Amino acid sequence: MSGAPITVEDWKGAARAVLPPGVFDYIAGGAGGERTLVANEAAFDRWTVWPSMLRRSGNPDTSTSILGSELAFPVGVAPWAFQRQVHPDGEVATARAVEAMGIPMCVSSTVLDRVEDVAASRATLWWQLYIWRDRRATADLISRARAAGYRALVWTVDVPALGVRHRDTRNAYTLPVGPAGSPQEFEPDLSWDDLAWIRDQAPELPILVKGILRVDDARLAVEHGADAIVVSNHGGRQLDREPASLDALPEVIDVVADRVPVLMDGGVRDGVDVLIALALGAAAVLVGRPTAWGLAVDGQAGVEAVLGFLRDGLVNAMANAGCPTVADITRDLVRRA
Ligand SMILES: Cc1cc2nc3c(=O)[nH]c(=O)nc-3n(C[C@H](O)[C@H](O)[C@H](O)COP(=O)(O)O)c2cc1C
Repeated sequence: MSGAPITVEDWKGAARAVLPPGVFDYIAGGAGGERTLVANEAAFDRWTVWPSMLRRSGNPDTSTSILGSELAFPVGVAPWAFQRQVHPDGEVATARAVEAMGIPMCVSSTVLDRVEDVAASRATLWWQLYIWRDRRATADLISRARAAGYRALVWTVDVPALGVRHRDTRNAYTLPVGPAGSPQEFEPDLSWDDLAWIRDQAPELPILVKGILRVDDARLAVEHGADAIVVSNHGGRQLDREPASLDALPEVIDVVADRVPVLMDGGVRDGVDVLIALALGAAAVLVGRPTAWGLAVDGQAGVEAVLGFLRDGLVNAMANAGCPTVADITRDLVRRA
């Protein structure tokens, strides 16, 4: 690459040049043979966009709102762990970036020691929750997040066991540990009944359930009181051979989108991808790795640049597809390639 990074692929290349190889691989990699990781991006290639003309769309309004949070454009930062591995300011820089961009950030449970520091950014923050064996510690963390002004809980349900990641094994990579920074042992015996326990800890906060691929699970989530669903395969990091998130999205939309907002993440790399996910019914998308590359290369400014690339791409896609508002991004805009 020559010149400043522009696309997510450019930022990834620039990040590869500055990160220790083990850290780069931890972020870039996925589970097993990484087929699901690859499939997440490839799934977008199977859709074409059929634009409408003369719709007064030249200057589109990208704003939307989800569960009481305002979004300047329908993108949020996915929870990703241990951001200080890639930049000394870590999650604080990412939070400042989303604040500047007017979108929310899901803050990973692994930022045990910085719940309040991240909140000082005044960004719209959603707290990503893992339930640990130590329920009291889990409850304490939820109450700290509430006190610090986090606006929603994002319960990640797709890690009953950590995925098998060959890159990490090959690199002898170990997760960063420290007295306050290490995650405690995850509770391995979780069930849908645990949603009620979470609700009891934070009755006023909306709960998003993240990591759903099947329609029966989506239905169960709603029946147990979930306020939103995030269709996700954890960026292909958990179980290889799972479907691409985008491929799982339409069925889930059919079954629950009339009751709760459905978000998706995995493989979103430009503004047209955002448009496709929304046309298939997503209320918004989350992005993980792209923000990691921006943070690694240039801290807060890098995250803003990557998010700006996605936003500007979406503005252009909406204009050219004939969508003056987010509500105009409808199912008829996309067809199987
Ligand atoms: C380095 C890394 C760490 C992650 N850590 C978490 C985490 O702590 N909690 C969580 O719910 N998801 C975690 N995820 C998954 C992301 O939230 C998200 O589902 C995924 O990155 C989306 O795919 P994308 O990277 O293709 O955008 C992590 C992803 C990456 C790449």
